[in-house]
Amino acid sequence: MTILDGKKISNDIKDEITQVVAQMKAEGQKTPHLAAVIVGEDGASLTYVGSKVRACARVGFESTLVQLPEQITEEELLAKIDSLNKDPEIDGFIVQLPLPRHIDTQKVLLAVDPKKDVDGFHPENFGKLALDMETFIPATPFGIMELLRRYDIDTVGKHTVVIGRSHIVGRPISILMSRKGKPGDSTVTLTHSRTKDLANYTREADIVISALGVPNFLKADMVKQGAVIIDVGITRVTDESAPKGYVITGDVDFAGVSEKSSFITPVPGGVGPMTIAMLLQNTLLARQRA
Ligand code: GUN
Repeated sequence: MTILDGKKISNDIKDEITQVVAQMKAEGQKTPHLAAVIVGEDGASLTYVGSKVRACARVGFESTLVQLPEQITEEELLAKIDSLNKDPEIDGFIVQLPLPRHIDTQKVLLAVDPKKDVDGFHPENFGKLALDMETFIPATPFGIMELLRRYDIDTVGKHTVVIGRSHIVGRPISILMSRKGKPGDSTVTLTHSRTKDLANYTREADIVISALGVPNFLKADMVKQGAVIIDVGITRVTDESAPKGYVITGDVDFAGVSEKSSFITPVPGGVGPMTIAMLLQNTLLARQRA
């Protein structure tokens, strides 16, 4: 069994980006600049956005954190997005999700200029992903593909079972794994909360990608011997004995499942760090395409 070390691979990617940025700067080119918009005070979202901004400094990017109050109106948020769209200094930006309930997420995502949409959430970019066109691939699925590629995991003709149909992970990774190429060329089954007898599918899977958000959902008796296991779950589970009062827990019962798997991502240290590295990669692409 091999552990897919997302922490190491993401550091490799960050090192590669650092070198490219240093070269760009040496040539007098503009430094890539990412902005992150966060609305409200959700602890997990603040942590993620903080990591994204810190990662920019690590590779030599400029970054701007736009922190807006929970009570902001949709109109005010849309005005902020418009100003980021028009700001020539900003190469790419993200709006951290989820947004407060009084704001229409779809309307907000539609307002982002597709050329600056480094999350790849705009329908134009999502459509391009499905059509094999140049786009921004959402960072988490992009990170999974990059892990599979760098570990040279064979996906061609394999049965990939995705758990969860979210717009951010499940839906796009199901498309990416079925696209032509390596990694890709998989036969994909997309399962979700309404799937009957889900374990019947996962037991047949060569590759399981779980993006459900239910801690320790996938047990050893639900996977086949030698399967590749990608765990996208990052749920905070209360644990009074932990320094922060919680532990980050994946969808996969790691102790049991790892014994049967050929490759497996840990949580933390698997897909999570890859997401941030690929957001940086998309920001670099935005700058290079501008
Ligand atoms: N919320 C959870 N994952 C993501 C992500 O990748 N991007 C944004 N903007 N919000 C998220």
